[in-house]
Amino acid sequence: MAHIRRDLLRMGAGLAVGGLMPSVVTAATDPVQLIAKPASILLAPPEYPQTRIWGYDGKLPGTLIRVRQGQRVVRRFVNELPQPSSVHWHGLRLDNAMDGVAGLTQDAVPPGGTFDYDFVARDAGTYWYHAHNKSFEQVARGLYGALIVDEAEPVAVDRDEILILDDWMLDPETAQLDPDYESRHDRSHAGRRGNYVATNGTAATDISVRQNERLRLRLINAANARIFQLSLVGLEGWVMAFDGMPLETPQRVGGPFLLAPGQRVDLFVDVISEPGETAHLVRVEDGEGYSQAAFPVGTQAASRVRRDPPPALPLNPDMDVPGLNTARRFGLHMEGGAMGGLQKAQFNDREMGFQALVNANQFWAFNGVVGLTQRPLADLSEGETARVTIRNDTAFPHAMHLHGMHVREVLETGELGPLRDTLLVFPDETREIAFVARNSGKWIFHCHMLGHAASGMATWINVT
Ligand code: C2O
Ligand code: CU
Repeated sequence: MAHIRRDLLRMGAGLAVGGLMPSVVTAATDPVQLIAKPASILLAPPEYPQTRIWGYDGKLPGTLIRVRQGQRVVRRFVNELPQPSSVHWHGLRLDNAMDGVAGLTQDAVPPGGTFDYDFVARDAGTYWYHAHNKSFEQVARGLYGALIVDEAEPVAVDRDEILILDDWMLDPETAQLDPDYESRHDRSHAGRRGNYVATNGTAATDISVRQNERLRLRLINAANARIFQLSLVGLEGWVMAFDGMPLETPQRVGGPFLLAPGQRVDLFVDVISEPGETAHLVRVEDGEGYSQAAFPVGTQAASRVRRDPPPALPLNPDMDVPGLNTARRFGLHMEGGAMGGLQKAQFNDREMGFQALVNANQFWAFNGVVGLTQRPLADLSEGETARVTIRNDTAFPHAMHLHGMHVREVLETGELGPLRDTLLVFPDETREIAFVARNSGKWIFHCHMLGHAASGMATWINVT
């Protein structure tokens, strides 16, 4: 390799060298592999046995993928699972062919097969990747990892920490995963929610800090269905970005905040605890607080003085502002689930009654249709703006995720909310989103409670 490079450089300056070099170099290099495979890891507290999981490169979370904004991500996905699989790069704007949705944008990769993913990371921020075939099972088994795109210019923080939250349904004796991934009860209710919550695949996450340090915390909710309610203790924080996309004005973290499945939040937090104390990221549940990450503060005196509140992160390039007046309007009516009123719906192009749907383990419908069909929710031309009114007529919250594009909520004031790729919609709520259809292709739009998605809550947007 070295001599090829030298020879090219010797050919002289100018465009020819710049144009030639990348292709010569990549042709000689095999892409880095990302191998999905079974593994055993210590997931539960140390007094328990190891848990058999499925992980990328056998790790939990899977291998961190980290690039600088504008760089290419090239990975040869290798499937060493006993099941077909695919990889989705959650929250990234990319070519539809790289979106990784088995059955919509590619065929699932069979056991023993490979698939080459290759795209440019245009947007800086906190993203993640996960399996997108039978994700209700594959993600629950551990097939996910963080995908971090660093800003072109370094950001002024003392530490940058990724915290992936997930809950696990573990057998209390053996610490093995509950194999009933298709449980009717979970699917028709709030989804698969575990009895054990871990951060980065471990019970105890300890990050040593110093007083007055500023940390960037990148929180990712990788759970199948759990909505985390989180709060800061001994830390003063600002929300810098939702779902990877920076806010124009950072928001002070006041009380507890929610993180729905699929969502991310980037916080800057300043350590205000005294030396020798411990600050925490806390999960609040039923009025109790549980530490999801502990930040023991070193006993030495503070290494620095408190900083001023942070300036906003640089916005990502070319984000369209949806023009509401010219937008085409669509409705998405959510029905079904336990305590829902779904009597019949279209499933696999047939009209089916309630009992037949239950027998097929299907419980939810969008506009009377269960799951993906030939017909998209919306057929849009590139550059067109769409507004979608989402009405939740079910007894459960749903985290609606659109692939390939971030959306803005149309607030009651008529203003646009922050860019998001996953919007949490509570029972009886009606919420409206707007977005500009920028990339051609088939973009799935589904609930990120993964059992819900598999039992009806999925549709797609066609952009041509
Ligand atoms: Cu993070 Cu279609 O999913
Ligand atoms: Cu849902």
